[in-house]
Amino acid sequence: MKTIPTLLISILISTSAFSQINTLMPVPASVTPQTGKFNLNSTFSVSVSGNPDPRLTKAIHRFLKRLSKKTTLTFDPDTVIKSNENTTFTLSVDRPGLVRLGEDESYALSISPSAISLSAPTDLGALHGLETLYQLIERDGSGFFFRSVQIKDQPRFPWRGLMLDVCRHFFKVETVKRQLDAMALVKLNVLHLHLSEDQGFSIESKTFPKLHELGSNGNYFTQDQIRDIIAYAADRGIRVMPEFDIPGHTTSWMTGYPELASAPGFIKPEKRFGIFGSTMNPAKPETYTFLDQFFAEMCALFPDEYMHIGGDENNGEQWDANQEIQKFKSENNLKTNHDLQAYFNLKILDILTKNGKKMMGWDEIYQPTLPKNIVIHSWRGRDYMDDAAKAGFQSVLSNGFYIDLFHSAAEHYQNDPIPTGTKLTDDEKSRILGGEATQWAELVDEETLDMRIWPRTAAIAERLWSSGSVINVDDMYRRLPEISLRLEEIGLNLVTNRDVMMRRLAGSDTISDLRNFLNAVEPQEGYKRHSIKPGYTTFSPFSRGVDIALSDAPDVISASLLVNSMIKSGNRNPDKKLFELAEIWISSKKKLTRMAENNIAIKELLPVSNQVSELGRLFKSLLEKYKSGKTLTKQELQKIEAEVKLRTKPVAELEPAMGSVILTLAKKMTPGR
Ligand code: ACM
Repeated sequence: MKTIPTLLISILISTSAFSQINTLMPVPASVTPQTGKFNLNSTFSVSVSGNPDPRLTKAIHRFLKRLSKKTTLTFDPDTVIKSNENTTFTLSVDRPGLVRLGEDESYALSISPSAISLSAPTDLGALHGLETLYQLIERDGSGFFFRSVQIKDQPRFPWRGLMLDVCRHFFKVETVKRQLDAMALVKLNVLHLHLSEDQGFSIESKTFPKLHELGSNGNYFTQDQIRDIIAYAADRGIRVMPEFDIPGHTTSWMTGYPELASAPGFIKPEKRFGIFGSTMNPAKPETYTFLDQFFAEMCALFPDEYMHIGGDENNGEQWDANQEIQKFKSENNLKTNHDLQAYFNLKILDILTKNGKKMMGWDEIYQPTLPKNIVIHSWRGRDYMDDAAKAGFQSVLSNGFYIDLFHSAAEHYQNDPIPTGTKLTDDEKSRILGGEATQWAELVDEETLDMRIWPRTAAIAERLWSSGSVINVDDMYRRLPEISLRLEEIGLNLVTNRDVMMRRLAGSDTISDLRNFLNAVEPQEGYKRHSIKPGYTTFSPFSRGVDIALSDAPDVISASLLVNSMIKSGNRNPDKKLFELAEIWISSKKKLTRMAENNIAIKELLPVSNQVSELGRLFKSLLEKYKSGKTLTKQELQKIEAEVKLRTKPVAELEPAMGSVILTLAKKMTPGR
């Protein structure tokens, strides 16, 4: 069953005219298109049978509101939701779903010309079915409709998350809720909130109020706000798992409670980024008394089964420098700092267990003697996940899903937690629970968060939901802009904020030249941006070109899809859009130079615009040669490769993005390479 649907989808893509069925993301487990369509009009009515959680009624209201907005149809508020089954859309749900790991999230959706039916064992499945249905609405000159189709769907992995760091930069409740709406749209089911860091303690503690009062610059969630976020998430079938990162990354804890520290001195929340030494003192009983009370409070506040204790990047410097801690280590026969951290973790595990929680931590917490119900969160490499699985531990993959590294959606999309050809046994595979996209917040703020997380996280969501055989990168890129539009429709700012930012940077509402340039470049990948002077802080503006550029330069993705399909079909006549793009890129330098004459904020972009112009010229000449049937010699190819390498070097933290398209075409044009 796993392979047929993918084939089906690709057949659909190649043979049928545009259909929303071909744009679904994540791709369902099984899709069987049928003939006919269900016409949507204002007499549309819905009924529910079975025994769902009341969250389903709220979800149906949201669905109808969205549908009404999207279609401009006014549904009759008195008749749209009915108690009898004499309606056009019937939902049937066996039992209330539990918002916890492993719950049944499957659903079956059937659309025929006369009726729509959605059935699911739990309302969590029904929520997913509603999101699928929302993605299927279409229009033509005479009305709105859903094409007839049978969909059966369930997730591949039970843990499909987004980790949000709310400490390097803090995000408002509304901003977090927007992410939850987006997560629901693409069927993610875990929001992992990273709540404490060197730069901020972002949640109210009633037991230890100096944590948020002195550790947060006033930016923290009150407990009422947290309850609100949890309820909002639960209404969308999403778990909220908190993370309190200990014993390292704890500067903000020490501001109010310096007695927790391994080193003396006044400590205040960091405003710069990096790895700092502040580490809790694991040798003092008072540390555990404190954490016992602290976790009792937080375990009661968060209903999720899991509590994430971080555990990453403890460089051990403060432990090495503290005589008391050294003495404690030798008295307890703890040879290394890793042994000491393992000791600490076991103490924390007792506290969490007492409070009814299971423990999760970054892969540094891994050590074979821990009980097997803890979850290892792999970030340094997928080997940590595989090793954990072999040793009997469950694990979640974030290595390869670090969206803060500015990598392309394609890279994340190809990062399968259980890749084809894995050597793991079925038993070991069953312990790999899924993955989480990871949005660390050094280089984002309120304004850019949506466009940094989305739409790339939709590609990750598909990796975690859909069959492992859904792997066509070009097809993912074909559907991704659709998802961006749908995300924007439901309130995300990923498209609109770019325009706002471009108008601000241009100092004008004429932004087409700037847009053309920024749609062809990408932010420098990796963490190298951190080492560029003067260095980023929590007060950085995040309003420059690099902050508006996307990790998948939209015009380059378009060019890449056109070039790939041209090569595949053997067509020697490049689409005229490709020549248009080449001309746009060529004109970059001239256009930006003109803008910069009256706008100093643009000036830093000029060297990159020069590179884009040169690469545009190269691309155009290749297109012309390709069209006239010319080939390249190996030497010519090498020259092109060298030029691309030279001209895609980052400047102003930006990289021209069209190098890979140029190389694809050039290689195709070089016989015998
Ligand atoms: C991490 O990225 N330090 C977990």
